[in-house]
Amino acid sequence: MKTLNKTLLAALIALITAGLFVVTSQALGSDDEEDGGTIVFTKPVKAVIFEHSIHMDMGLECDSCHDDLFEMATGTAEENDDFTMKSLYDGKYCGACHDGDTAFASNTRCTSCHIGVKGYDKMMGNEKKGEHEGHH
Ligand code: HEC
Ligand code: HEC
Ligand code: HEC
Repeated sequence: MKTLNKTLLAALIALITAGLFVVTSQALGSDDEEDGGTIVFTKPVKAVIFEHSIHMDMGLECDSCHDDLFEMATGTAEENDDFTMKSLYDGKYCGACHDGDTAFASNTRCTSCHIGVKGYDKMMGNEKKGEHEGHH
């Protein structure tokens, strides 16, 4: 009986811990708890994909982006009015590297970053069925 209770308790703790991870990591479709996972921007246009894993594989350090270019909080950049292509072309945000030098230029390969509404729906299909855009 004692052993059984211990097993149940362990299982319960495991469940709770797993649950906490799901709640605290807002990362979409990523099992990597070390970085910010995969982020999908929807403002001002839907949708732009940013994958930590790809950028970490490039040998970048966290402080290549945090906190000078981006806060470690998804949704911060989207609150800024200047989170636009013009800023990228001016070397801000993603444009600090996506300038045709460190990484491919922001005025090329649009669809590498822009996955569009279809790409967004495909990614979010399971979680956000039936959700509609508020504006336009
Ligand atoms: C190439 C740039 C870049 C690098 C390198 C980078 N990040 Fe990020 N990170 C971002 C961007 C962009 C966001 C989203 C910021 C926003 O929405 O304003 C973000 C967001 C985050 C978040 C918030 C995730 C959430 O769910 O709110 C965490 C945590 C994070 N990063 C951790 C890290 C850590 C740890 C490293 C190093 C292992 C790292 N990042 C490296 C660009 C980067
Ligand atoms: C600190 C530098 C840095 C910043 C900031 C940065 N990137 Fe990158 N990114 C890179 C490098 C380096 C590569 C790989 C080289 C290349 O493809 O030109 C890359 C590659 C990519 C790729 C191509 C992935 C693939 O499948 O080949 C995408 C998409 C991308 N970045 C999106 C973004 C977005 C969106 C942002 C801003 C939210 C951003 N990056 C910010 C350095 C950066
Ligand atoms: C390196 C990644 C990257 C590339 C390449 C890129 N964009 Fe963007 N784009 C972004 C980000 C980040 C935003 C702001 C977030 C959002 O709107 O979801 C944005 C926003 C926009 C917007 C809305 C804001 C504005 O400036 O009016 C338009 C339109 C746009 N991009 C068009 C394009 C076109 C056209 C291309 C190719 C010529 C392109 N983008 C290439 C990352 C990129």
